[in-house]
Amino acid sequence: MAEDTLTITDNRTGREYTLPVTDGTVRATDLQQIRVEDGDGGLMSYDPAYLNTASCRSAITFIDGDAGILRYRGYPIEQLAEEATFLETAFLLLEGELPTTEQLHRWEEDVRFHTYVHTNVQKFLEGFRYDAHPMGMLLGAVGALSTFYPDAKDIGDPDSRYLQRVRLMAKLPTIAAFVFRNAHGLPYVLPRNDLDYIGNFVNMTFEIGGRHEPNPVLQRALEILLVLHADHEQNCSTSAVRGVGSSHVDPFSAVSAGIAALYGPLHGGANEAVLRMLDQIGSKENVPAFIEQVKAGKGRLMGFGHRVYKSYDPRAKLIKRVADDVFEQTGLNPKLEIALELERIALEDEYFVSRRLYPNVDFYSGLIYQAMGYPTDYFTVLFALGRLPGWIAQWEEMLGDPEQKISRPRQVYVGEPERAYVARAERG
Ligand code: CMC
Repeated sequence: MAEDTLTITDNRTGREYTLPVTDGTVRATDLQQIRVEDGDGGLMSYDPAYLNTASCRSAITFIDGDAGILRYRGYPIEQLAEEATFLETAFLLLEGELPTTEQLHRWEEDVRFHTYVHTNVQKFLEGFRYDAHPMGMLLGAVGALSTFYPDAKDIGDPDSRYLQRVRLMAKLPTIAAFVFRNAHGLPYVLPRNDLDYIGNFVNMTFEIGGRHEPNPVLQRALEILLVLHADHEQNCSTSAVRGVGSSHVDPFSAVSAGIAALYGPLHGGANEAVLRMLDQIGSKENVPAFIEQVKAGKGRLMGFGHRVYKSYDPRAKLIKRVADDVFEQTGLNPKLEIALELERIALEDEYFVSRRLYPNVDFYSGLIYQAMGYPTDYFTVLFALGRLPGWIAQWEEMLGDPEQKISRPRQVYVGEPERAYVARAERG
């Protein structure tokens, strides 16, 4: 049987090295022994943007990008989207197993008990400018929570970690709802402990004058969207949470770094960018010309393409089904026609086919959020609510991994060699 090793010949020296191969990887630190001369630091791997580097071992989420498979703790995303609640999914991600009825009850109660935020958080939110972007407010407020809970610094204590996990899960919807109310100039609606997680959030956003008629179909649709977003292994925001958390900062600070990363248009901000793109296209007739612009390198087709999925994004498939349920309740979103036309043309076009670009999770989610009544600049906040359990689970896994240390990549220096300081007067 072939050995699980890799033999490398260094043609610079003629020396041969045999490195162990474990789980389809070689260790970058094993390359260090490959040197041209003593003291030269050894060979490094160079991988900008981590295109082919595993940064951790993880037991949380499995993705097969070629086959379009996504599983949380082994459970297919399709089954979780069909059957599980969001809090149940969060428990699964955090604890590794689906909860028993008793465990789920305790988890739901713990989260329910912590939904209120300190009233100073409200004042803090009021300090933002009237047109502040909701994601900027969210990341600022979550970072600020670390100052309200200094005990969160005790990251080595499992009881403290559990409490912070509960606080984050409980308070993020409250803060997100306050951000929404702030943008609309509406008074804050406080959490209601007689409602479930989703029902309470929706009520805090939409209640007016003590009234809100819940729509169970829309609430379940929102819940499914949160389940679909709950984790996605080592994506940009999760890597940010792990990277920042590796300095042993408190979880509120680490999660706010995740929110910052999610804000970007190439990541969670894509759902907002898709809607702006659909607005810009304006009508179905303009789609071919827009596609030509994209192919000419003038902008990207937002909501298309993925670093990992190269056949299809299984979440996008499920979201399309959710869209049908939602539009049945709300009436068709007129932009859906443009989106469907974009998808139809792009899936037949050589440019997109050869680059294996397919609709991703963000392509249709914005249309659904808009139909539910959320404004465009709020979509990524909803993504953050969904991704939170994944961030916490990955943060805790990182802390418990004996192989992890403070995250600190190497670099290839390409700047000036040493040179002498030039006095200001001599610089002209
Ligand atoms: N529209 C047009 N061309 C694209 C697109 C797109 N959306 N995505 C990739 N390409 C092209 C790209 O120009 C490049 O072409 P070439 O080889 O000729 O230079 C090729 O496809 C490979 O692209 P890449 O930038 O090397 O791919 P990546 O893995 O670094 O980027 C991505 C992945 C998701 C950032 C990118 O596909 C993209 O910008 N998509 C649009 C933004 C988006 O929808 N983001 C949401 C991602 S899913 C949810 C999430 O993570 O939050």
